[in-house]
Amino acid sequence: MTALDPRPRTTTPLRFPAGFRWGTATAAYQIEGAAAEHGRTPSIWDTFSRVPGKVRNGDTGDIAADHYHRVSEDIALMRRLGVTDYRFSVSWPRVQPTGRGPAVRQGLDFYRRLTDELREAGIRPVATLYHWDLPQELEDAGGWPERETARRFGEYAALMAEALGDRVATWTTLNEPWCAAFLGYGSGVHAPGRTSALASLRAAHHFNLAHGLATRALRAALPAGSEVSLTLNLHAVRPHTQAPEDLDAARRIDAVGNRVFLDPVFHGTLPEDLVRDTAPVTDWSFVRDGDLRTASAPIDSLGINYYSPTVVAAGSSPAPSPWAGAERHVRFLPAPGPRTAMDWPVDANGLHELLVRLRDDLPGVPLVITENGAAYDDYADPEGQVKDPERVAYLRAHLAAVHRAIEDGADVRGYFLWSLLDNFEWAYGYSKRFGIVHVDFATQRRTFKDSAHWYAGVIARGGLEA
Ligand code: FCB
Repeated sequence: MTALDPRPRTTTPLRFPAGFRWGTATAAYQIEGAAAEHGRTPSIWDTFSRVPGKVRNGDTGDIAADHYHRVSEDIALMRRLGVTDYRFSVSWPRVQPTGRGPAVRQGLDFYRRLTDELREAGIRPVATLYHWDLPQELEDAGGWPERETARRFGEYAALMAEALGDRVATWTTLNEPWCAAFLGYGSGVHAPGRTSALASLRAAHHFNLAHGLATRALRAALPAGSEVSLTLNLHAVRPHTQAPEDLDAARRIDAVGNRVFLDPVFHGTLPEDLVRDTAPVTDWSFVRDGDLRTASAPIDSLGINYYSPTVVAAGSSPAPSPWAGAERHVRFLPAPGPRTAMDWPVDANGLHELLVRLRDDLPGVPLVITENGAAYDDYADPEGQVKDPERVAYLRAHLAAVHRAIEDGADVRGYFLWSLLDNFEWAYGYSKRFGIVHVDFATQRRTFKDSAHWYAGVIARGGLEA
């Protein structure tokens, strides 16, 4: 037994099913840099990161991990790891700078080159269309709280399907619309930094609509066999006690944290309890006839990003809160156990709980872990080694939880480790390192951490050693 994995150690290796996809994940703004090259215009993160006090240390994504200029080197890292798949995102302002009109050739060329080189390396490209970098011009026109942004997104999806449809295996419309809507427009800790409960709920709906419009556009243009998906950061919500007030707190967070997306996308409905909880904020009249039908266009898999569980009790949370309609009913408690450098609790059981829930709630929907990983205060020692045993323990425990969920009947098809490289961790800037490859941001030198060597072994043997 270890502190990180309370279950007895197994003595047989944990093999994953044949065909299981092994990947790493990144996002455009977090790694690309080249912020003003070849016609790219500012995204909301370029703007937000320049507002004093919003991002630690005043860091920006101007240079990041300079991936834009180091594609081949980074693909070579993935070859060394032996990954089967690579999840990256397309920077909307790089390919369609104003969020309108034709694509910029050089922007598309970058992604053509990336996907071509991936395919030459035998790695499946998995592209996310939106990982939070909205063209600033669209924010200036109202951003995600406005319906027009969803329409713009549908057109951008069509454009990308046209340009890269023959190269990308899986398309993910959105990454974590919860964070984009509720941290971006509710608590304001993410770009664009607005603090309005109403704006956050409107944004959430327009993300659902945007997802549906993009799914439709992708289906219309993609060759047969391409897959369309959506990635959510579902919350593994646990009530502190079984008292009715604590159970109600958990229900509220499940509504505004999970079902606000799951119900429209998979059932074409709005959660009734969410509508009730948020009645003081809105009557939801911005949801128009047909929107929920559009949002629920069938998709091929659901991506899940999981880092740690969420423990709640009756109470209230400080303003400005991302939890529209729940802020005066819920308080958040620290889950017990060890923590990462983000101060996030390490608890792999939460991932198992989520997967088993989805097995029951969404039968027939294949699941993919599109992000999982941990930040620790890594450094290269004088011998040039990066020892990160805590990350290895975290990853091992979470992969074991995925394996257990598969044994329990969850249809999990793949695992993408967050992240390939140390990168720009949003409001934390470069102060938090999630990579399994260390990046020295002064020289852009890449170094495999011990966890990268470990992950290469996991992939080579198709699972965890005994
Ligand atoms: C997720 C984001 C990803 C990364 C990890 C740590 O919420 O999707 O970009 O920042 O957290």
